[in-house]
Amino acid sequence: MGKRPIVERMVQFYEKKPVSFHVPGHKHGLLTELPRAFRDVMRFDYTELSGLDDYHHPEDVIEEAQVMLANAYGADQSFFLVNGSTVGNLAMVYATCTEGDLVLVQRNAHKSIFHALQLVGANPVFLTPEWDGKTETATHISKDTLKNALNMYPGAKALILTHPTYYGVINPFMKEIIELAHASNMPVLVDEAHGAHFSANETFPASSLDIGADAVVQSAHKTLPALTMGSYLHIQSNRVSSKKVNAYLRMLQTSSPSYLLLASLDDARDYIETFSKEDANYFIRTREQFVNGLNLIKNLSIVEVEDPLKLLLRVNGYSGFELQKKLEEQGVYGELADMTQVLFILPLVKRKHTFPFADIRVRIKLAVEQLMKQPKSKIQIDYTHDLEAISRLATSYKEMDEHDSEWILYSKAVGRISAGMVIPYPPGIPLFIRGEKITTNKLEMLADYLASGATIQGEHDLSRKQLLVLKEEIK
Ligand SMILES: Cc1ncc(COP(=O)(O)O)c(C=O)c1O
Repeated sequence: MGKRPIVERMVQFYEKKPVSFHVPGHKHGLLTELPRAFRDVMRFDYTELSGLDDYHHPEDVIEEAQVMLANAYGADQSFFLVNGSTVGNLAMVYATCTEGDLVLVQRNAHKSIFHALQLVGANPVFLTPEWDGKTETATHISKDTLKNALNMYPGAKALILTHPTYYGVINPFMKEIIELAHASNMPVLVDEAHGAHFSANETFPASSLDIGADAVVQSAHKTLPALTMGSYLHIQSNRVSSKKVNAYLRMLQTSSPSYLLLASLDDARDYIETFSKEDANYFIRTREQFVNGLNLIKNLSIVEVEDPLKLLLRVNGYSGFELQKKLEEQGVYGELADMTQVLFILPLVKRKHTFPFADIRVRIKLAVEQLMKQPKSKIQIDYTHDLEAISRLATSYKEMDEHDSEWILYSKAVGRISAGMVIPYPPGIPLFIRGEKITTNKLEMLADYLASGATIQGEHDLSRKQLLVLKEEIK
């Protein structure tokens, strides 16, 4: 273990046995009626007291820890986020775009990116990602799509990418894509929510920070041992102003940051900084043994992706949802399921850790055996999608705000403007984005997705065959 300025200062503070006449009202856990284990944690739920620095104007331990974070990731400046990658995405978009700005955006972005574009009033140009047959998921934009978009919209203010995918798929052309955008003097903002561990060791794919991205947001809580909501934002460029990012973070985040979260972010930074070559070898060896063991389970197939922390489990003839149900009956909880598979996020173990892989393997075997007793169910899905590679909204966010919305039968929705997102999984690419025109082609695609059994997320009422549209058509 190395130096952890926030953690160490909190422990010193605790050892002084401080009496609380301040917020939070649970008084170091004394008044809580929650179970004992919760109270133990609440003892450290401090606020910005003397000696514990000021989150929004750090000069002491938070400043020191954030400098250590920037050094660990090789960034010019890094920030601890207590509102998840969601707030990081909002802040980096606010810091780079203003109302009416053209912005190139990967279409399968997280909702926080769409919210950021809407809040800023940007003028997004959506770039449709490629389909990956191996993982059966939507992945990244191609170089050609970007080149075409740069030709069509040379004045765009930023390129917003999501990398890696939730499933751990890496874009082999990420570096070239960043360089293409830079050649057009465009900053590249990367939502790297699923890649906070990439910098731990060469075992992992390169972080977009290491290949030239200007601003990168990472959910430390997703893959590192940090508390939920704990994230990082790194700036490494003069194309993005850290001063502006900082100003927006002050506006967008709470004025009462959780010190438990801050401590866990400080600790997670130390965790990857001290993740040695031997730890990496141990992780890879342990993982390999686990995967080899899983591969011996009859009827189970394992798909490995570029990120070794991710693993896909499939049982032919059954959906991922059915497999997930059986796994959960055995007490094994994956990250998510889709029509094809269950996604596991493996633990980033160090040599000192033992994780009960052998026991888990037994339970997974039982789950698969239980599943095989059910009749096979999986319908073959045609995942092909022919969304335009590059598209725009039919109206501005400002105009959208001036119109109410209404539910309409989707048979009557052609030509209307969608007031909500409709995202079929698979492929996980939004079919309708708020502000886009509803076309016959897309409605036909929706019917195909529904017939294929895809899960449809977003604002819709498909059980009543209804879509949410803007009340009056905007000419
Ligand atoms: C790609 C991506 N970006 C951003 C987020 C939001 O992250 P957070 O939960 O840290 O706010 C998520 C959450 O799942 C995500 O998958």
